[in-house]
Order: sequence, then C-alpha cells, then structure tokens
Amino acid sequence: ALISMRQMLDHAAEQGYGIPAFNVNNLEQMRAIMEAADKTDSPVIVQASAGARKYAGAPFLRHLILAAVEEFPHIPVVMHQDHGTSPAICQRSIQLGFSSVMMDGSLAEDGKTPTDYEYNARVTRNVVDMAHACGVSVEGEIGCLGSLETGMAGEEDGVGAEGVLDHSQLLTDPEEAAQFVKDTGVDALAIAIGTSHGAYKFTRPPTGDILAIDRIKEIHNRIPNTHLVMHGSSSVPQEWLKVINEYGGDIGETYGVPVEEIVAAIKFGVRKVNIDTDLRLASTGAIRRFMAQNPSEFDPRKYLKETTAAMRDICIDRYEAFGAAGNG
Ligand code: G3H
Ligand code: 13P
Ligand code: NA
Ligand code: ZN
Repeated sequence: ALISMRQMLDHAAEQGYGIPAFNVNNLEQMRAIMEAADKTDSPVIVQASAGARKYAGAPFLRHLILAAVEEFPHIPVVMHQDHGTSPAICQRSIQLGFSSVMMDGSLAEDGKTPTDYEYNARVTRNVVDMAHACGVSVEGEIGCLGSLETGMAGEEDGVGAEGVLDHSQLLTDPEEAAQFVKDTGVDALAIAIGTSHGAYKFTRPPTGDILAIDRIKEIHNRIPNTHLVMHGSSSVPQEWLKVINEYGGDIGETYGVPVEEIVAAIKFGVRKVNIDTDLRLASTGAIRRFMAQNPSEFDPRKYLKETTAAMRDICIDRYEAFGAAGNG
C-alpha cells in the first residue's frame, strides 16, 4: 500500500532503524527494490529525481510505482519526489499522487546556486502548507551537500552546488536546523554531514571517520522529533568497480560511505538514507560482464535480468544492514 513518508519514518524512529531510499528510473530498478523488500520483509521508499522524470516521463514513473504496489500489496511503499527545486514542481508531484516530496531550497531553481536561509525557509514553508493539506509529507534540506575531504558537491550535472564549498557550508548548523524545522514544519530534514552525490566522494580509502558523527548527534539532540535524511549515501562497492574495469570500463580509484558509518548515523536519528549510485554501478558491472561473456547474445531481457539481480543484492544488503528488514 502507498503510505506517507511521515508514517513510515515515525515507525523507523520508534524502532530505531533506517530505511534506504532508492532512486528509480526504470522497470529493472523498481523490480530489484521490490524483490529485495519482499525477500527481507522491508518497507520501501522509492524516489524519482528530475532526471528520472526527464528519462522515463512522470506518467511512466508514477505507473511503475503503482504497478509495484499492485504486485506487492503487502509491502508499504512511499512514493517520494527527490530534490524538488521549486514549489511548482512539488505541487505537480502532489497532483500526480506522490505521497512525499522533497523541497530542496538549499539550492536555487538551477539546482546549483546556494541560497540564503530566508529563501529556503519561505519556499519550504510554502510546500509544507500545500502538501500537508493533501496528506503528503515533506523533506527539506539545510546546509550544502559536499565531501568533507574534497569540498566538492560531487555531480557535474544534476543536483549539487557549484564550486568548492568551505567547511562551514559543509556541515549543517544545529541551531539553524532547529530554527528551520520551527519555521517550516517539515517532516524530515536532509542535513549536510560530509557526503556528496555521485561516485566520487572520497579519493582515499575511508578511515572510519568519514561522516561528521558528532554533528549528527548534536543535530539529533537539538531536534529529536525530526527525522534526519542523509543524501549521498552510496558506499561505492569496490567489487563492482573491479568488475566494471575488468570488462572494459574505466572508472578511477574512488570511495563512498562505508555501510558501518551509515549504521552509526542511524543510531543518532538518521532514518532515510538516499542511495542511487550503488545501483548504477551494480547494473553497469552486471551488464558489462554479461556482454563480455556472452558476445552473441542480443535479447535485452537476458542482460537486464543480470542487472536486476545485481541491484537486488545491494538492496537486500542495505535493508538488512540498516535494520529495516523485518519491518515491512
Ligand atoms: O540526487 C541525485 C540523484 O542521484 C539523482 O540523480 O538527477 O541524475 O537522476 P539524477
Ligand atoms: P548517491 O549518489 O550517493 O547514491 O546519493 C543519492 C542521493 O542522495 C539522491 O538524492
Ligand atoms: Na530526497
Ligand atoms: Zn540527494
């Protein structure tokens, strides 16, 4: 059944687990997520970005998610709009039947330029008023996502601030977060704690202090009733990088957020954990390997089946590691 994000995250907070929120663009991702949730008895958050709407079209995405609900009626599903850059975009998603929207007012409508507090609070409040009137949950964001190591926001195109960010921009201020929640009434709050979007988060193997865990604790202590969201949470599996490069790919040395660090963050109030890149890497690795090993095969279902299985295994891992398994 389709449920609101508030309802799902309230349960996660009561029970102390986290929920991976996977980005969805196509049938194979949707099926991988649902099969993993079914196997592990987990609740599901699927999210559609602006890029996903551009790729698949909003009606196809909407029906893909509704089809998942129809095929797996026993699994609770949140249909979330990722990184809305304006109240108008959020309004369209609410009309389409999304049960949750993100108003990312930390960046301007171009998805690149950092904004000031007043702008962010104003557009987010606007979306909360609209969404709550329709029973739809809202995620806001305060602070600019960026790698604590490199100061970079990550992705070249898509969502991410431009240029190198300084240290004060990279970590959400607990007082500002509290003020923001008070001013906007958001259900969930994305915080900047040292992660960035995409595959290029860190250039060196993580040493166990890649996330600003102390900052997460401070924010959680200040606003214990707000569900925290961690963007840029892909772990960038080294085994998939190896497969990709072994079968003709060319991805340089790079590291993501270790699963153990995410598990630590979940102990301090992180409830929604956004993952996109890991599924992209797994499906690319699976497809490259299959193509190399089966050069005469040309039925897309054959190689797409491989991508579904690879993505499903990642989803199963995350549902289990974050404690969502058994709570579906
Ligand atoms: O937040 C970024 C997500 O990974 C979505 O990326 O805009 O390329 O679909 P995208
Ligand atoms: P990753 O690029 O680390 O998978 O993050 C995805 C994300 O935050 C989507 O909003
Ligand atoms: Na989001
Ligand atoms: Zn994000």
